[in-house]
Amino acid sequence: MSEQIIAIGLEGIVVAETDLSLVDGINGHLVYRNHWARDLAIHHTFEEVAHLLWYGALPNKEQLRDLEEKLIAERELPAHVKTAIDCIPHDIDMMSVLRSGVSLLGLTGNDWPPTIEQVISLTAKMPSIVAYRAARLAGREPLVPHKELRHTANYLYMLTGKEPSHAHVRALDAYLILTQEHGMNASTFAARVVSSTRSDLISAITAAIGALKGPLHGGAPSEVTEMVEAIGTKENAEPWLRRALENGERLMGFGHRVYKTTDPRAAALRVVASELSKDDPWFDLATHIEQVALRLLEEYKPGRKLNTNVEFFAAAVMRAVGLPDSLFTPTFAISRVVGWSAHVLEQAANNRIIRPQSNYTGVMPE
Ligand code: CMC
Repeated sequence: MSEQIIAIGLEGIVVAETDLSLVDGINGHLVYRNHWARDLAIHHTFEEVAHLLWYGALPNKEQLRDLEEKLIAERELPAHVKTAIDCIPHDIDMMSVLRSGVSLLGLTGNDWPPTIEQVISLTAKMPSIVAYRAARLAGREPLVPHKELRHTANYLYMLTGKEPSHAHVRALDAYLILTQEHGMNASTFAARVVSSTRSDLISAITAAIGALKGPLHGGAPSEVTEMVEAIGTKENAEPWLRRALENGERLMGFGHRVYKTTDPRAAALRVVASELSKDDPWFDLATHIEQVALRLLEEYKPGRKLNTNVEFFAAAVMRAVGLPDSLFTPTFAISRVVGWSAHVLEQAANNRIIRPQSNYTGVMPE
């Protein structure tokens, strides 16, 4: 038997070589293929950064137009997906609907290896699933995807029926770019595990959506707004947070497995959110709560290096562009599908099945 390394939670274990991103938790750096993610979020669009991750380089004008057109052409949902969504009871949460809708896109069989065409088609359709369901829940007729609008603007358009403002598109673009990719997080790992068995892209992404849904990963931002609303006033912040920490609860939007310093995504989104939220009392309260929480985390969890993570300001940005809490994590999935699929392509290009071991602690038979 080979020597066993026991790492519960796989902390510190490297399971893949990747060209896609560097998550440097000591220096607080996030790099997508030789570019600072922060700079990409300021100067580029969702499609440009997706091109960088999928094809290896930022696009020239022609390549960008080509990718934008392909995404526009693939947005419409197959009729069977719409029919199936219509059958899902209204109290089922949007992440479960998205997971089921994506799963139904994969009825064509056992495609392996995954292709870039499949990746583009899936990325184009995920916002359509969310917008279709949101319209049905609101009692509105779902909109046909807009033929002129880019990915992010079309998503907001399909949710609201109105062409969004430039400021809202830029802010949401920044969020969607900063969350497209993030190393070997739990959902990306889930996607790579499934893909490593030579299962199809849709199965890998369905698994990833399931992993992202949990509150310790992508499910946190709606819990951030719940926390802010439950606290309600600046005076209540300290007693409420103290009570939560004394009860052993986790404060949502704080802490990270890798970042032991400022999460660079949180730093960038703080700027985006504050520009959109000038004079917004909710944002004023949220940033007050953040400061009190950081002080109390240091008091109750000394030395754990718990900082504000991406989810805290993700909640602020999504709220500021008018998304309801129920769409926060689905919107995260709409962006992270870019990274998941880039990892699936990378895994397929140099595949070996991912198959760790467990340590038996039970009793041996006589
Ligand atoms: N609030 C209070 N205590 C915390 C928190 C928190 N948010 N996060 C970690 N701790 C404590 C934890 O109780 C433990 O204390 P002790 O040493 O006394 O047992 C210590 O810090 C280490 O925690 P851990 O669970 O070993 O850390 P981890 O690396 O396994 O967990 C985490 C990382 C993100 C799951 C965790 O920090 C957490 O639960 N945060 C709240 C949920 C959240 O905001 N999730 C979004 C993560 S960022 C988006 C993404 O990339 O997925």
